[in-house]
This record gives sequence, C-alpha cells and structure tokens, in this order.
Amino acid sequence: MYGKVLICDPVDTVMTDKLKDKFEIDYKPKISSQELLEVIKDYDVVVVRSRTKITKDVISNGKKLKIIARAGIGVDNIDTDYAEEKHIKVVYAPGSSTESVVEITLAMMVIGARSLYKGMENTRKNDFTKLKGMELEGKTLGILGFGRIGKAIVDASRTFKMKFIAYDPMPVEYPEYVKKVSLDELMEQSDVISINVTMRKDSPYILNDNELSKLKEGVIIVNTSRARAINGKDMLKYLKNGKISAFVSDVFWNEPAKEEYEMEMLKLDNVMITPHLGAQTKEAQKRIAIMTADNIINEW
Ligand code: MLT
Repeated sequence: MYGKVLICDPVDTVMTDKLKDKFEIDYKPKISSQELLEVIKDYDVVVVRSRTKITKDVISNGKKLKIIARAGIGVDNIDTDYAEEKHIKVVYAPGSSTESVVEITLAMMVIGARSLYKGMENTRKNDFTKLKGMELEGKTLGILGFGRIGKAIVDASRTFKMKFIAYDPMPVEYPEYVKKVSLDELMEQSDVISINVTMRKDSPYILNDNELSKLKEGVIIVNTSRARAINGKDMLKYLKNGKISAFVSDVFWNEPAKEEYEMEMLKLDNVMITPHLGAQTKEAQKRIAIMTADNIINEW
C-alpha cells in the first residue's frame, strides 16, 4: 500500500476503483470541518469537492499530508499558498466538466432571455399568461473570462448567430469571430454576459458598482463559475431597478445563502439560481473522478 486517502465529498466510485489497489481509502462524504481537523493527521492524501474547505488549520494538522486533490476545477476552497509553503502538492481535474458547464450555460441564457423559469412557475399555479422574451440572434454575448469554458461557450452558442466579444485579463488567443475588448467595453456592449472566471480563495471582486453602472439597460447575466466575481451587495441595486433584466446563476456567494443581501436577492423575480449543478452530470463526475485519481497516482 502507498498510503491513506480520505475522500471528503461525494465522488464517483470509479475513483475508489482506480485507487484501491494502491491506497487504503476512507470515504466520508459528509465529514464536518471539525472532524476533518481531528482526523487529517492520519492521511497522506485528501480528496475534496467544493463543500470541504482545506484551510491553513487543516493543512497544519495534516502532518503526513502529501497531496490535496480537488475533484473538480476550482481550487478556491483550498489554501494553495500555504499548501505550497508546506510542499504539499495540489492536483485537480482541469477540462473535465467543460461539456456539462457549457450545456447548462446555454440553457441559462435561454432561460434568462425567455423568462422560462417564471413561465414554468406560473403554469404550476395554472396561470398560462404569455410572457414576452428576447431572441438571442443578433445580440452581443460578452464572455468574461475567456479560458477553456468561455471559448467552448462561444463555439456552442454560434448556433444562435450572436456577436461575440470577450475580456480576459490574461494574454489568451481570440478566434477571428470573437472581438477582444476591455472590461468597460464588455460591460457597455453586451446584451448577455456569461461569467466564466477562475478565482482564488482571496481574489477580489471583478465587478463592483463602478463596472456594473456601465451595463447596458436590460442585460442578462449568467454565471456558471464563481459568485465572487461579482460584488453581490453592489449588484442588488441593479437587479432591483431592472437594469439587469435577468440574473441566472449556478453559483451563489454562500451556498446556501446566509447574508441579508443574498436572502433579498433570492426573492426577486429576475433572479434565478440553481444549486451549483454545472459539473453535476454522471458523465462529468466520472471524468472528474478518473482524472483526479490519475493525478494522485502520478504525483505520488
Ligand atoms: C468546479 O470547480 O469543479 C465546479 O465548480 C464544480 C464543483 O465544485 O463541484
């Protein structure tokens, strides 16, 4: 046996199948933060999704810890700086959920443009009032964060015959059908904005009041990456006054919500939130489990 692995969140069983010949595995998908702090000293590898936070204290208590594995893409729930300081490797599964996230993003764009959510809610009450929406064809889709997922969203939404603009603070390649713009231009020109950023644990908000004030009247904002890309308190004002006609998001600042501004937001008709389902398909979860297990074996 190589060592001991603690799996802290629900992960596809293919991960255990791949690791079981080499590692002793404990599967505790509901482990509390307190229990984790107590037991982490016994493990060489810890596997988490987004629920479990690998804080400085967890790392300090993990005297034998060699690998922190994130079964997913974002590592913002891990204190990566402290892990590096302690020479603990952090592995994750880049690209493993792209298809699933792209599909949910396109669905959310249509939900926002056609008030589908409200319509479905109404028909449950036998209210068949016709709600008027907006076609996506000819509109400008602004991608905030033009990485792997941002690019795949553009490719998939070409079927809608939209115009594409994108902003990324990093030097990335733009195909000829995507115009590279500044953040201000993205705010001013987009009819629909898709947020596809990667954030670190301490990344500052990207969109504060200053940026949000530049939005086009009636813009739809879709977020399938991290809520902390936007200052939620600042955003509330633009949701209430209708400048943002729809906010369709798979991510929230706290999941579940606990702050006052979050509770207020959840009550608004133009706010449609799903419970972080982007990578939650059987196909993506299998790919994530395989890639994460392979990365653990390779880094061991
Ligand atoms: C990810 O970063 O992989 C996604 O947000 C999905 C998840 O955390 O489960």
